[in-house]
Amino acid sequence: MTKIEQVRRLLKKSQSPVFFTGAGMSKESGIPTFRDAIDGLWSDNRPEDLATPSAFHADPAKVRAFYEYRRATIRDCEPNAGHLAIAALENSGFHVSVVTQNVDGFHEAAGSSKVFALHGNIMEDRCNEGCPGSHAMGRHSGICPVCKKDALRPNVVWFGESLDDDLLLRSTVAIMTCDILFIIGTSGLVYPAAGLADLAMQRGFPVIEINPEATPFTEQVDIFLPGAAAKFLPKICGA
Ligand code: OAD
Repeated sequence: MTKIEQVRRLLKKSQSPVFFTGAGMSKESGIPTFRDAIDGLWSDNRPEDLATPSAFHADPAKVRAFYEYRRATIRDCEPNAGHLAIAALENSGFHVSVVTQNVDGFHEAAGSSKVFALHGNIMEDRCNEGCPGSHAMGRHSGICPVCKKDALRPNVVWFGESLDDDLLLRSTVAIMTCDILFIIGTSGLVYPAAGLADLAMQRGFPVIEINPEATPFTEQVDIFLPGAAAKFLPKICGA
């Protein structure tokens, strides 16, 4: 039996799969990852200059320009065959949860209904001062509609910031109660998100990883599929 057949068989026996995804999930959509040596976003830019509260404080225009550039890339791209395969699995009756570190909204756009976006949504803004009701799609100016300060920022989690407690709790519950876990397209280097996949390793249900490169998870998973998410997922999730 091939590895793909084994994974299909394990998935078929499950009811509540969880897909834990990172930037590699959207690679075939045309969105660069963070840590790829050649075209990764962090190969040309230092995270501390663009993705921290202190960077925004020091130079809001520069930080906003970086995020506007990323938004423009995302607007030009769309969910790929991998996102669509996960959404189709849900439509065929599985209780699918997606726990993602991605901020592009592509799982939701593909049709997945239970998505925990741990790092936020890059297409939205919110007030850096925490004004309730300041969330809005797209940025027309930097001015918060509530406090009127020049404090709007992308609705993403920056280095040094905490994840939303409720989202983290619900993601943890999803992973602790699933019956098969897929770890897809993440380097597993950024905590606390990566810790969710670590938790799963001790639970005894099958853990499958899809990634062209080995990661800190690879030696611990049950089956490693080396390659692109958009290539494997339709074969695994398809009828
Ligand atoms: P990384 O850029 O760290 O890792 C991307 C992973 O995707 C690597 O392991 C690649 O080998 C893999 N990959 C590349 N192409 C792939 C493909 N076609 N199919 C499947 N996998 C592929 O991205 P993340 O692990 O998501 O945080 O990074 C985690 C967090 O670090 C991000 O959410 C972001 C970043 O800084 C914040 O913005 C807070």
